[in-house]
Amino acid sequence: MGRPELYLDAAATTPPLPAVLAVMQQLQETAWANPSSLHGAGLAAADALERARWSMSERFGVGADQLIVTSGATESVHLALLGSAAGFAPSRLVISAVEHPAVIAAAQQLEALGWSVAEWPVDGQGVVRLDQLDRLLSAPTRLVSLIAAQGEVGALQPVIEVARACRERGIVIHSDATQLVPQGSFPFKQLGVDLMTLSAHKFRGPRGVGLLIRAPGVALSSLQGGGGQEHGLRSGTEPVALVSGMAEALVALPNFNPVTHHVPPGCSTQIRRQRDQLLERLLELPQLQLCGPALDHRLPHHIALLAKTADGQPLPGRDLVRRLAAAGVACSSGSACSSGKSSDSAVLTAMGFPVPERQSGLRLTLGPWLSDQDLDSVPGRFESVLEAFS
Ligand SMILES: Cc1ncc(COP(=O)(O)O)c(C=O)c1O
Repeated sequence: MGRPELYLDAAATTPPLPAVLAVMQQLQETAWANPSSLHGAGLAAADALERARWSMSERFGVGADQLIVTSGATESVHLALLGSAAGFAPSRLVISAVEHPAVIAAAQQLEALGWSVAEWPVDGQGVVRLDQLDRLLSAPTRLVSLIAAQGEVGALQPVIEVARACRERGIVIHSDATQLVPQGSFPFKQLGVDLMTLSAHKFRGPRGVGLLIRAPGVALSSLQGGGGQEHGLRSGTEPVALVSGMAEALVALPNFNPVTHHVPPGCSTQIRRQRDQLLERLLELPQLQLCGPALDHRLPHHIALLAKTADGQPLPGRDLVRRLAAAGVACSSGSACSSGKSSDSAVLTAMGFPVPERQSGLRLTLGPWLSDQDLDSVPGRFESVLEAFS
């Protein structure tokens, strides 16, 4: 057996909290019935579900009727974009050039329905260019989707500013906040968007459950019919234990008040310190270079790197990830979020990196399960792996 694996891949998914597992175990035993049933067992399940909804709505400062439980961010994104587009004649959707593949897939479905899709370009740090705002938010744009925090390079996006401009123009805006919410819950209203997506497994909740949060009065059509659960927007018997696990994980998050797109103040200062110290030591290795925004404009647990050989040749990120895993460091290559065959990262491509570099991205994302001692060993493990390439 090699050394125990250190998990530096929080942006891919996170280990569930013991309290989440405990709540779910208990509810699988006591609230397994259908919450729509009118007998005692059903009422117990309905009661657990309502408690979880109430708790989650508190965390985001919204009414429980503003929450739509889904199977995770992929579904929430589709419901947000396809469900709100259904209220308009085909017009224009704007998405950033650094969205998750789920948003791109939903946009492609809208294209097939006659919508045009415009891509909001990003700068070399992966942040949408605000000098393009007036052009992109002019007619016929009716719908915008802007990721709140980019998972691959950690860039925090100016969602508040873009949402304000959308509101002034009567444009519906959705934000995929899947990577932002793990830094803390916040008043939904503060972000100013009409619709917001999140996924429980990114913040130590269970896999297979997420939310779409909707501002009052935002029209949505359901994508599937059936029993009419979730205010008729997402039919299907509610997964009470999963929803309660998600609520429990949210309770464990800090709360913050986003005022700009800079670093969310709610996140753990310990993780930020650990990230800064680890990055400083990794950048002492001449084969590694920071990629994406400066530290105070990126997710506070996030390191994105480009890797090269000692003589400056870009190294394939995927190979490096495999070798790092063998050396006991679990992390991701740039294009980890898509299981596609190409090793070009769409995000690095949008940021303007040429072909070899756009395959050489690495992402390390920290979590509270890592001690200082754990992290101390990471630069040495990197060094041995990088040496083996030259
Ligand atoms: C920004 C973003 N959106 C959407 C998703 C998809 O999430 P889920 O697996 O919950 O569908 C992810 C997961 O990697 C993500 O990082």
